[in-house]
Amino acid sequence: MLSDLGNELEARVARAVRAAFGIEISGEQAVIRPSAPGRRADYQCNAAMPLAKQLKLASREVGEQIAAHLDTTGLEAPEVAGPGFINLTFTSEFLASNLLELAADTRLGLPLQDPRRVVVDYSSPNMAKEMHVGHLRSTIIGDALVRMLEELGHEVIRQNHLGDWGTPFGKLVEHLVDEGLAGGDEIDIADLNAFYVEASRKFDADPAFAERSRKRVVALQAGDPATLVLWERLLNESKRHIEAVYAKLGVKLSPVDYKGESAYNDVLAPTCDELTAKGLARISEGALCVFPHGFVNRDGDPMPLIIRKRDGGYNYDTTDLATIRYRSQELKADDLLYVVGAPQSLHFELIFAAAHEADWLPTTARAVHVAFGSVLGSDGKILASRSGASLKLADLLDEAVRRATEVVAERSDLAPEQQASIAHAVGIGAVKYADLSVARDKDYLFDWDRMLSLDGNTSVYLQYAGARIHSLLRRAEMNADDALSVPRVELIEDAERALALKLSQYPAAVSLAVRHSEPHRLATYLYETATAFSTFYEHCPVLKAEGPTRESRLALAAHTARVLARGLGLLGIDAPERL
Ligand code: ARG
Repeated sequence: MLSDLGNELEARVARAVRAAFGIEISGEQAVIRPSAPGRRADYQCNAAMPLAKQLKLASREVGEQIAAHLDTTGLEAPEVAGPGFINLTFTSEFLASNLLELAADTRLGLPLQDPRRVVVDYSSPNMAKEMHVGHLRSTIIGDALVRMLEELGHEVIRQNHLGDWGTPFGKLVEHLVDEGLAGGDEIDIADLNAFYVEASRKFDADPAFAERSRKRVVALQAGDPATLVLWERLLNESKRHIEAVYAKLGVKLSPVDYKGESAYNDVLAPTCDELTAKGLARISEGALCVFPHGFVNRDGDPMPLIIRKRDGGYNYDTTDLATIRYRSQELKADDLLYVVGAPQSLHFELIFAAAHEADWLPTTARAVHVAFGSVLGSDGKILASRSGASLKLADLLDEAVRRATEVVAERSDLAPEQQASIAHAVGIGAVKYADLSVARDKDYLFDWDRMLSLDGNTSVYLQYAGARIHSLLRRAEMNADDALSVPRVELIEDAERALALKLSQYPAAVSLAVRHSEPHRLATYLYETATAFSTFYEHCPVLKAEGPTRESRLALAAHTARVLARGLGLLGIDAPERL
């Protein structure tokens, strides 16, 4: 079984180059690209042009030499075009037998990778307020990355870096006291945002309140027991809010994954001491600063990470240094992913640079800021509620399910209870997919009609494609396993072959999405697969076909349903068998 056709071609081209010219190239330098659908070839190799420069030969000649030395097992004769593009096409026999092997594999051909320990920082909301839409993105993208990493066999340590410490809690605690909520065990703040807004208003309007709040922060950071009790009470209330959102989303995050800013309180001073002892931190204008090499501001002055303010207080930078030290030294992370909005790019560049200089990150470790863009409303501004206040995620998700209920009811003859669970899958899936299907560093427009549209690149389109296949199998009175146990598949029609090629590219799509931490690469692949299935279904009768042709087409359909369901699952989206 060839689990990654593109990788295989890269390796073969590299060997051909060695045989033809006696030089070594990397897989990447083989420049293998899948061709656009409908093209004559399955893949194109664009290695000849850059190699020609290096070898001082005509590029067409280089292309022809590579083609002549290529191992063509399972391939049609390669064709050299134009300045030296090499068109590569698998034989239909090869694709058919490879597909049967992929279909027989419980992992659909996806190989396990050498396991690495990956710490993924995601969701990480600020607990003084309710989660906003930026944290929704972090939660959804992080969850998809975690699922894909685990599917590839990596050990994932989830870290929800809650913003649960610092100045906002001073005013919240004081407001709590004023509201008479300081007694009793549990508090119930229905609207955490309103509570925060009120506390902030008082902070600005009432100097005595502001003074009390500042003292509270000091008491909190000094570990005053009475203050800690109140702080914890607030935090528990806030956790109930985020957990309600996680439950609605069905994301894999639970209290064992919480390690908020407060958890690092005791190691901030030792972190600063270590940086000072290593000669990396020094006092500048009264504050303790680290100046990572190579970072300068507009005036050409070195750029600081301020790790201890003039008043002795620590901040977000200090905490993130303590955090990266913990993740690498104690959790022994091989890779560190931070799923955080793009505006924090510079912050993470500085943190990573400082961590390298402090020798906290072994050279084999990869620290990556998995940056994402903003979610915009129809006015082109960051998504907010009608009144302009920040939008509550719980409400947003409820609305998604409500709208999905309408979409589903229009087309379904199922019982209401079944419809409810389907509407949940469709509604939550739509919100997640709208987010995951765009390149994550781009902003995207939050548009209900588009995300719930039955055609186009939406989750409900993919869910329908899967459900349609299950209905086909039911009509054939078969389950997917039976349908897949065929002795051979036939790839005679173009649409059959194109679908089989797409299905063979599933392993490559997942590993590419993980390599770049870009779930949209998998989403795009799934959409192309569903489209290839539609074309196949339009051109190739299934139930009306006979004998081996019918069997083969049912097998292609059944494998498509499995790829779609597994792929959607990796994005955290359910694929109901009936819609
Ligand atoms: N709470 C932060 C925010 O909302 C995000 C934290 C991300 N993680 C980190 N290690 N800095 O901006």
